[in-house]
Parts: sequence; structure tokens; C-alpha cells
Amino acid sequence: MKKVDVLIIGSGVAGLTLAIDLATEHPDKHICVLTKTTREESNTRYAQGGVAAVWDKDKDSFQKHIEDTLDAGDGLCDEKIVEIVVTEGPDQVQRLINWGARFDKEHNNSTEYDLGREGGHSENRILHYKDLTGWEIQRALIDKAAEYTNLEILDYYFAVDLITQHHLGYNITRLTPNIECYGAYVLNTETKTIETFLAKATVLATGGSGQVYKATTNPSIATGDGMAMVYRAKGRIENMEFVQFHPTSLYNAAGENPAFLVSEAVRGFGAILRRPDGEAFMHKYDARKSLAPRDIVARAIDNEMKMLGAEYMCLDCTHLDKDGFVRHFPTIYEKCISRGIDPMKDYIPVVPAAHYICGGIKTNEHGETSIHRLYACGECSCTGLHGANRLASNSLLEGLVFGHRIFDEISQKVATWTFKENIPDWNAEGTTDPKEMVLITQSLKELKEIMSSYVGIVRSSLRLKRAFERLRILYEETEELYHTTSISPQLCELRNLITCAYMITRSAATRRESRGLHYTTDYTEKQQFIEMTLI
Ligand code: FAD
Ligand code: SIN
Repeated sequence: MKKVDVLIIGSGVAGLTLAIDLATEHPDKHICVLTKTTREESNTRYAQGGVAAVWDKDKDSFQKHIEDTLDAGDGLCDEKIVEIVVTEGPDQVQRLINWGARFDKEHNNSTEYDLGREGGHSENRILHYKDLTGWEIQRALIDKAAEYTNLEILDYYFAVDLITQHHLGYNITRLTPNIECYGAYVLNTETKTIETFLAKATVLATGGSGQVYKATTNPSIATGDGMAMVYRAKGRIENMEFVQFHPTSLYNAAGENPAFLVSEAVRGFGAILRRPDGEAFMHKYDARKSLAPRDIVARAIDNEMKMLGAEYMCLDCTHLDKDGFVRHFPTIYEKCISRGIDPMKDYIPVVPAAHYICGGIKTNEHGETSIHRLYACGECSCTGLHGANRLASNSLLEGLVFGHRIFDEISQKVATWTFKENIPDWNAEGTTDPKEMVLITQSLKELKEIMSSYVGIVRSSLRLKRAFERLRILYEETEELYHTTSISPQLCELRNLITCAYMITRSAATRRESRGLHYTTDYTEKQQFIEMTLI
């Protein structure tokens, strides 16, 4: 049994921001960060476009960023949260810069940042580091975290379940008041044993769940573990139907997991979406054309592909300045060249891919969940910032702001909390090593097929019903496996993905309207009364 003052599960932008703040302010407290593979591997690391923040106050304003965020969110944003994130954002970005993160300047020796533009933004406000912004942020945070002796990062520690009164023998339901979190059961993937981590406060910063779909820009760690753990612990989850599909992942006939992203910043730089025959089409869907918000662009591409029976649509960069393109997008340029596509001469073939989940663990403005002493930040949380659709590059910003807000909240309370005693060890009685990995790998393939075919960009009541029926079979088979087999990350991830798939499908079926990222052919209009879907 290990006792730590604060247990943070996840080493992306949200988890590490919080960890650094806590370690700085509380040198006497033991802050422990768990990460299920290496500390570098996260969604954060793959972020390309950048961080949205009001930087040039002459041209831009908080009000404009707020309005753009609300507009993308399609009536479901929490206005108070939007204001908090937008107004606190620039200070948090500045702290990141102070910790060593680099962002591109306008030119050599310039003091001004080169602010990029992405879909749905009315001004240039995206700070970026080439097309490797996330990699640079992750690097800077890991370097900074290494300065603290009271901050421990444990690689290859896979959190399996949250510890609550349930583990002390109490019957907990979604209606039970005062559910409390005492830490987590964690699989040490090297020793293959489950260790008990007791904590005064536990924070989930476990990222998204893109791996629930066949085509996704998310790395393999994005299996919705945090959301599934909270669901099992009977905590509140909100707005899971709002899955954002990025319009432009690089088409690969052979399939690629994760799909390579062609950043929206490329369209911000002037690239135009075209059919394979060269005809531009976005003007038919939105006055902002190729720079309309993502839900609109992804649906437009999906529609054009279906109408033409085409495998992909195209991004035309052939009119753009080569030096500028290569300077801004060296990784994208190299990737295209490696695939025999010269962006300066050829169209880049693109398809939508699952990219971001706007819903997640319901939190308030302090990052508190419905479970006491349990907090959530970053993509696994649902703060109210994104509503029905996230504005590009608002996610890293949200992770920075809420990482810091949870620090403020915990700082005041952690001194008054004690460890819970008498927590039982994990019980692995009656389980044996898995004999057939195919039971897990095949179920994962089926899950991805179901979700991509029936709960994708365009939905219908019949498709959702079919998804439910098939998910139920997968659920039952996987639960049986879970209770009879010794635990592995693969089995836990499959189980968590099925739970997320269920929550996405259930929330989608509950929303009898089309709004933001949720589009159903059975209810194409918006309802007058707006509601969140709570689980
Ligand atoms: P992550 O960075 O995903 O980190 C999750 C962490 O949790 C990892 O350390 C993981 O190991 C750990 N973890 C998960 N489950 C467990 C478990 N069971 N046990 C232990 N550890 C666990 N957003 C922007 O704002 N701007 C962009 O330009 C941008 N570009 C993007 C490009 C791509 C290709 C992708 C995939 C996303 C992009 N996003 C962008 C979204 C953004 O990167 C993510 O939403 C954000 O980085 C999430 O940060 P996070 O800290 O919440 O989680
Ligand atoms: C991109 O670079 O297009 C991704 C930006 C984001 O997801 O916010």
C-alpha cells in the first residue's frame, strides 16, 4: 500500500500543470503522477495547431474569443466557464512560457508571437510551435517537473479503479449522496500486480477516448479510462454524445492507427478543401468556407464523400508559398512527402477521424466532480467550456486553466484531509492468465466497427438501436472475461472503451435533436429547450 498526498492520474498538459503547481507550493507534500505507458505519451504530445489565447489585445479581445467559443458550442456552453477559461488563459500560457515552452515568433529576433488562425476563430490567436506544439508543451512540462524532489512520476502504472465506500462493503448507487474517493487500485504493468494507492485527493487527467472509433487521430492510450472509472464509481458524466471528428486526417487506404492529422492551421494558412476533381465545395455549407467550425466541415466532407462515392476529399495547398508552408508545417510536409504526396504539387487526400470528446466527467468551476475528493481536468472532464462542439485549440488552454484551478482548490483543503484506513487489497481470487488474446483483440475490432458504422458523424435512431444491441453482447462477453481472467491493460482498456461506447450511444439516443457535433437524420432540427445529457 502506498500513501501519497495527491494522486494525479495522467501526465498530459492538465495533469502535469497541476502537479508542478502543487509541488512548487507544497514542498512538504508528496505529489504522485501515474501514467500508463511513458510519461511522454499522451494526446497532448500530438497536438499540432496550438493553444488559443487572446494575445494581441489591439486586434483581439476576450469578448471575441468568448463569442467564438459560444458560437461553436451551439447553445450548450456554460457561459461562466467560457469566461473563466478565456480570461485566465493568457496568464496560464505565460506561465508555460516561463517554464520553458517555446512558441514561434513572427520572424527571427522578433518579440511578437506568430499568431495562427483556425476554424471558427474570428481573429488570429493561436500560439504554436511549428506543427509540433503539443510535443513542445509536453517536453517543457516534463523538464520542469523533473526539478522537484516531492513530485514523483511513475511510468507504466495503469489505474484500474477508483477506491470508494463500495470497497468497504457499502452498497453505492448513482443516488448515493457523499460518495468519497480514497485513491485507486493500480496495475504495475512491470510486476503485473495490483497496488493500492491511498490519497487525500485524487485527480483524473486521463485524456480522451478516440480509440473507440476505427479511424482516430488519438494515440492508443486514449481509451477513456478515467470516464469509465467514474461511471463504475457511480459518478456523474455529461454530454458524451458530442464526439468531435477532425475533418482532415491524412487518408490512408491501408488504415493507420492513429490517423495522421493534417492540422486545421493548414486551412488557416490558406489551404482550400476540394473534391478530387478540383471543385471547391465548402461555400455550399457555410459562408466561412474551409474555415467553418469543425462539425460543419466534417459533415460537409462526409456528405460529399457519400454523394460521390469517394474515399476521400482533398486539401489544396498548391497555391501556397513553399518556404512558409515548410517552415510552419515541417512534420506535415515530411509525412506527405514520405507518402509520395508533394503538397506543393499534389492535393492532400483527407478524411474525417474521431478526434476529441467534448463530454466527460462532470465538474464545477473548481474541477470538483460529483464524488468527494475526486477532481478531473483536461479532456476526460466536462467543464462546460465546449458545449456541443469544441472550438479549435481551446483544449490545451482548458487543461492549463483547470490544472491550475484544481491546484487552488486542493491547496486550501489537502491539509485538513486524512488517509482512509482499512482499505482492502485488490482481490484477484479465482482469476487465471488469459489463454486467448484473440478474445480481446477481436472484440476491440468489433467495437470500433460498431461505433464507426452506427454512432459516427451522422446518426439515426435505428443505427443507435443496432449499436446498443451489439454493444450489449460485447459488454456481457467482456465482463465475463474480466471476472475470470487476471487483469491486463488490454483487457481493462477494452472494458473501458465498451463503457465509453455505451455512454456515447446512450447520450446520443437521449438527445432527440441535431445540435453541434450530434447530427441525427431522425431529428434534424434543434429543440427549443436545451438540456445536458447526464449519466
Ligand atoms: P492527455 O494529454 O491525453 O494525457 C492523458 C494521460 O493520462 C496520459 O499520460 C496517459 O498515459 C494517462 N492515462 C490515461 N489512462 C490512464 C490509466 N488508466 N492509468 C494511468 N494513466 C492513464 N488541442 C488543442 O488545444 N490544440 C491543438 O492543436 C490540438 N491538436 C491535437 C492534435 C491531435 C493529433 C490530437 C490527438 C489532439 C489534439 N488536441 C489539440 C487535443 C488535445 O491535444 C487534448 O485534448 C489534450 O492534450 C488532452 O490533454 P490531457 O492532459 O487531458 O490528456
Ligand atoms: C489541429 O491542429 O487541427 C488540431 C487543433 C485542435 O484539435 O484543437
